[in-house]
Amino acid sequence: MKILLTGANGQVGRCFQDVIAQQQSSKIVLKACSSADLDITDKASVESVVLDFKPDFIVNAAAYTAVDKAEAEIEQAYAVNELGVKNLAEASNAIGSAIIHISTDYVFDGNETAPYQPTDAVNPQGVYGKSKLAGELACIDANKKHVILRTAWVFSEYGNNFVKTMIKLAQTRDKLSVVADQYGCPTYAGDIANAILSICVGYTNSSIEYGVYHYSGDLPTSWHGFARAIFDDAKNIGVIDNVPEVRAINTDEYPLPAKRPTYSVMDSSALLPMNISPSDWRTSLSKVINLLKN
Ligand SMILES: NC(=O)c1ccc[n+]([C@@H]2O[C@H](COP(=O)([O-])OP(=O)(O)OC[C@H]3O[C@@H](n4cnc5c(N)ncnc54)[C@H](OP(=O)(O)O)[C@@H]3O)[C@@H](O)[C@H]2O)c1
Repeated sequence: MKILLTGANGQVGRCFQDVIAQQQSSKIVLKACSSADLDITDKASVESVVLDFKPDFIVNAAAYTAVDKAEAEIEQAYAVNELGVKNLAEASNAIGSAIIHISTDYVFDGNETAPYQPTDAVNPQGVYGKSKLAGELACIDANKKHVILRTAWVFSEYGNNFVKTMIKLAQTRDKLSVVADQYGCPTYAGDIANAILSICVGYTNSSIEYGVYHYSGDLPTSWHGFARAIFDDAKNIGVIDNVPEVRAINTDEYPLPAKRPTYSVMDSSALLPMNISPSDWRTSLSKVINLLKN
C-alpha cells in the first residue's frame, strides 16, 4: 500500500509518520511531504508528485490552521484549505486513487445541544471554518473515492497546541482565566493517525465506504475543563510544581477575531463498526505530558 502524506510537519502529519514507523509490516510505503517538499497550492507540483509516486491513498494533513489570523488572511486560508485540497483530490482522481482529507468541527455553528452527526447541516462561523468547508466540497466534487474525517481540539507532543500553551502558562503564573462556555472533544493527533491508517486498511478491504465521518475525543468538556485536566496531569507527572487557580470565564470576556462554535461535540460512532473507537483523550493526555517531560 502506497501512501502520500502532505503536511508532514504538522501535529497529525508527525503522528502519522510515527504510526507508520511502528508498523511491523513492510507492506506500507509512505512518502511524507512537508510544506517545503510539496506546497499543495502548487497544482503542477501536486500533479508531478502524484504521477511520479502513484499512491493508493493521499492523506492530506496539510492545512491553514491559524483560526484567528484567517479572518485577515482570507486568500491564504482559501488557497490552502480549498484550492490545495482541490489540487490533491483532482490529482488522486486522475490516477484512480483515494484521498483521506482532514476537516474540522468548526464547519458547524455550535447552536445544537446534542452531538453533531456527519449529515447535520453545516454553517461555519469564521473564515477558517468556511475555507475548510469549501475544501470538503472541493474534495467531494473532484474525487468520489474520498474520506473526509472531521476532527476537533487536536493536541499532541508536536507543534503548537492548547496543552503546550497551558503548561507554559502554568510554569510562570499562579492564576489563569479560561473560557468555560465552549464545549468540544479534545482529540489526540496520534489517535487520529491510527484512525487514518485503519481507514486505509478498511478501504483496501472494502469494509469502509467513502463519505464524511467524525473522529474526535470520547468525552466532551469545556476549554476550562480541558485546562484543569492538563494541570492535574502535569502536576502528577511533575511537569509543573503547582496547579494554578483557573478562573472560569465566558467567551465574551476573552474576545478573539474569529467566532467559535459554542458547542461542537461530534458523534464519532459511525466508525465503530470498523473498530475505530473515539480518542481516549484522558489517557492520551497523560501520555503526551509524559513525552513532554522527557
Ligand atoms: N489543530 C486543531 O485543533 C484542529 C482542530 C480541528 C481540525 N483540525 C484539522 O486537522 C488537520 C491537521 O491539523 P494539525 O493540528 O496537524 O495542523 P498543523 O499542526 O497546523 O499542521 C498543518 C501543516 O500544514 C502545512 N501546510 C500549510 N500550508 C501548506 C501548503 N500550502 N502546502 C503544504 N503544507 C502546508 C503546515 O506546514 P508548515 O509547518 O510549513 O507551516 C503544517 O505543517 C487540519 O486539516 C486541520 O484543519 C485541526
